[in-house]
Amino acid sequence: MSTATPPAPAPAPTAPAAIYDKGLANTIVADTQMSFIDGGKGVLEYVGIDIDSLARQSTYEETVYLLWNTKLPSKAELDALKSALRSEYEIPNELYEMIRGMPRDAVPMHALRTLVSALALYDSEADADGIEASKRKALRLVAKTPTLIANFERHRSGKDFVHPNKSFDIATNFLWMLNGEKPTDAMARGLDICLILHADHGLNASTFAARVTIATLSDLYSAMTTAVGTLKGPLHGGANEEVMVMLDEIGSIDKVDEFIKGKLERKELIMGFGHRVYKAYDPRATYLKTFAKQIATDTGNLRLFEMSQRIESLVLDAKAGKGIFPNVDFYSATTYHCLGIKTDLFTCMFALSRMSGWCGHCIEQLQDNRLIRPQAKYTGPHAVTYTTRS
Ligand code: CMC
Repeated sequence: MSTATPPAPAPAPTAPAAIYDKGLANTIVADTQMSFIDGGKGVLEYVGIDIDSLARQSTYEETVYLLWNTKLPSKAELDALKSALRSEYEIPNELYEMIRGMPRDAVPMHALRTLVSALALYDSEADADGIEASKRKALRLVAKTPTLIANFERHRSGKDFVHPNKSFDIATNFLWMLNGEKPTDAMARGLDICLILHADHGLNASTFAARVTIATLSDLYSAMTTAVGTLKGPLHGGANEEVMVMLDEIGSIDKVDEFIKGKLERKELIMGFGHRVYKAYDPRATYLKTFAKQIATDTGNLRLFEMSQRIESLVLDAKAGKGIFPNVDFYSATTYHCLGIKTDLFTCMFALSRMSGWCGHCIEQLQDNRLIRPQAKYTGPHAVTYTTRS
């Protein structure tokens, strides 16, 4: 009989020391081929193409193809994507009924979050695994989101539903459903440009949230529901609504100085300024500023643009050297207002566009997945004796 002692168990593997990075500002958690940001220089590219060229020359559908396929489409490829999207514009009758049952005073982002989630109930592929199934779901989500938003708006305004029109592109179709009439080419192009500019932006908070959800191998509808909820916050997508509320509150150009100086003295945030990544002018805001001036002039809203310009000048003076510049939300507020979109729908417009970026990121995540699970630093007590309390 052997008397040898059993070998000592192998030591448990030690995890590498965790790094404390509050807000994850300096942590890279995923690869992406979709958008590149150089925050110091104020550069944004989608698949290597600068955002300004895309805003001037591309369309939202072409941009979606670019983001999802990491190349520009041929005409045949673009036509195929457009036709696939159009065939998915319509939503099930049950969704119209659900909209009809929603309170008319519901916050639109609450309605959108609920409706995006509900889409899963009527998609037989909702839980289908695999990249191809996820791509089909992505197409449905991008195609149906405008129908959800426009018809929620019609419901809360006491108007009849308007069904999507498959002969229109996404921007035209959205304005068609929203207003019940075909928009002018200039209005549709204005919205199309906003959709291009908002489509993707690295690992922003809502995209990160979507990736966290899909990385658990949950479904794309769950990931998009997470993303819509995350976008809603005023530090993220909700800022564009806050900008318009601020412009309305100020009211006229002669009140701008007093209002902004007061906010700065009280050390309050000025919505539409500052960015986690950009410490130079947000390149989306550069384009939107020019565009907002044009559309404000065309629609008799120049007052809004002039107020915005004065706010920008005051904030830039006060924050000189601190890397605080207008972000995408600042001039998109004036632009959406001039397109006839109500203030509390602005964040839904952001979601309408970003749906393509969110879905693209989720598919990237699935192609090289690892559960996203950071750590928290425990700051509570230890070795506390358990006692029952009366
Ligand atoms: N107004 C006044 N001061 C500001 C602003 C602002 N909008 N943004 C940043 N600062 C100051 C901030 O108070 C801080 O000052 P100090 O060093 O004296 O404490 C300094 O600038 C650095 O700011 P931070 O809070 O460390 O920046 P952050 O990276 O944590 O936050 C932000 C970025 C976007 C949350 C913030 O700039 C902000 O709250 N902006 C207003 C909300 C907004 O416009 N959000 C939309 C972001 S762009 C669209 C999107 O991606 O969703």
